[in-house]
Amino acid sequence: MSDLRETYLKAIAGAGDEATLEALRVQALGKKGEISLAMRELGRMSAEERQEAGPRLNALKDEINSALAAKKQALADAGLDERLRGEWLDVTLPARPRRQGTIHPVSQVTEEVTAIFADMGFAVAEGPQIESDWYNFDALNIPGHHPARAEMDTFYTHRADGDDRPPHVLRTHTSPVQIRTMQAEGAPIRVIAPGRVYRADYDQTHTPMFHQVEGLAIDRDISMANLKWVLEEFVKAFFEVDTVDLRFRASHFPFTEPSAEVDIRCSWEGGTLKVGEGDDWLEILGSGMVHPHVLLAGGIDPEQWQGFAFGMGIDRIAMLKYGIPDLRAFFDSDLRWLRHYGFAALDVPTLHGGLSR
Ligand code: PHE
Repeated sequence: MSDLRETYLKAIAGAGDEATLEALRVQALGKKGEISLAMRELGRMSAEERQEAGPRLNALKDEINSALAAKKQALADAGLDERLRGEWLDVTLPARPRRQGTIHPVSQVTEEVTAIFADMGFAVAEGPQIESDWYNFDALNIPGHHPARAEMDTFYTHRADGDDRPPHVLRTHTSPVQIRTMQAEGAPIRVIAPGRVYRADYDQTHTPMFHQVEGLAIDRDISMANLKWVLEEFVKAFFEVDTVDLRFRASHFPFTEPSAEVDIRCSWEGGTLKVGEGDDWLEILGSGMVHPHVLLAGGIDPEQWQGFAFGMGIDRIAMLKYGIPDLRAFFDSDLRWLRHYGFAALDVPTLHGGLSR
C-alpha cells in the first residue's frame, strides 16, 4: 500500500495537464481504480485486518484526492500566469499613426469657434434641425407672406392630406435657437449655437446641408459697439492675426434692426488668402441688434432688454482659414480628402495650447 501511495503522489506531482490528472484519478479512485478495488477487498478480511487496513486505505484515498485538487489548482494558476504574460500590453506605446482617423475641418472649426467664444463668456446652446415654421420664421419676424421665406430655398416636410397646419421645415438658419434660448433661459443671455442648417442649393460654395454658428447676447445695455468688439476679438483669435480690419455694411434682416453684414479686409495675392491686409473685402457674417418683435416672441421685454445677434457660416470660415477650395468635398466622405484636410484627433483646440496646430 505504501507503494501505491508513492506511485500516485509522484505521478500526480509530475502531471503536466488536467487530462493526465483526470486519468490518474480514474486509475486510482475510479470505479475500477486500484484503491477502489483494494477497498472492495476489505470485505473479505478478518475483523482485525479490516480494522487496520480500512483507516489506512481511507487516509490514502483522502491524501490522493487532496493531492489531485492541489495539483489541479497549481496547473490553473500556472495557466493564468502564462496568459497574463502573453497578453501583456505596453500602455505607454503611442497610437499607431497609420490607423488614426482625423477630425473633420467642420468639427475642428466648431471647436475653435467654441473655445474662442467660451473665453468671452458665451455658453453653447442647441436646437432641433427639424423646426416648426413658427420658430424658423414667424418668431423671427418673418410672417407668412414675407419674401425672405421664398429666398431661403426652404425644405418643407410633408403633411397628411387634409391637415392644413403649416408643415415643419429643415431649419434654414440657426436663428430659431435664439427664440428657444430666450424662452428657456430668459434674459440676460450670452450663447452661441453651432449646428447644421439646410437650404436647397448646390454649387462650389453651397451644399444643401451646411453649418452655421449663431451668436446671441442680451442684457440691459448691449449695443452695436459690443457686437463690433466681440466680432473683432473673434476674428483676430480665429485667423490668428494681431490686427484685423472689419467693415460693417448696412444690410437688412427681418430679425435685427439695425442690421449689418460684416466683411474683413484680406488679400488674395498669389492665390492664397491673407486676412488682415490687402485691398479686398470678404463677407463673413450677418448681424444686428435683435428686433423687439423677436424679443417679444422669446418672452423677453424689449423695454428692459436689448441685444445683438449674428450668424456666421462655419464651413465658409473653415474654407477660408484652411484654404479648401470646394465646399462640396466637405461632405463627400472621401478618405483621401479627409486625410489631407483632417486634424489629429488628440490636438484639441484651446486658446492656450493653440487653435490650429
Ligand atoms: N440668420 C441669418 C442668415 O442665415 C444670419 C443672421 C443671424 C443675421 C443673426 C443677423 C442676425 O443669413
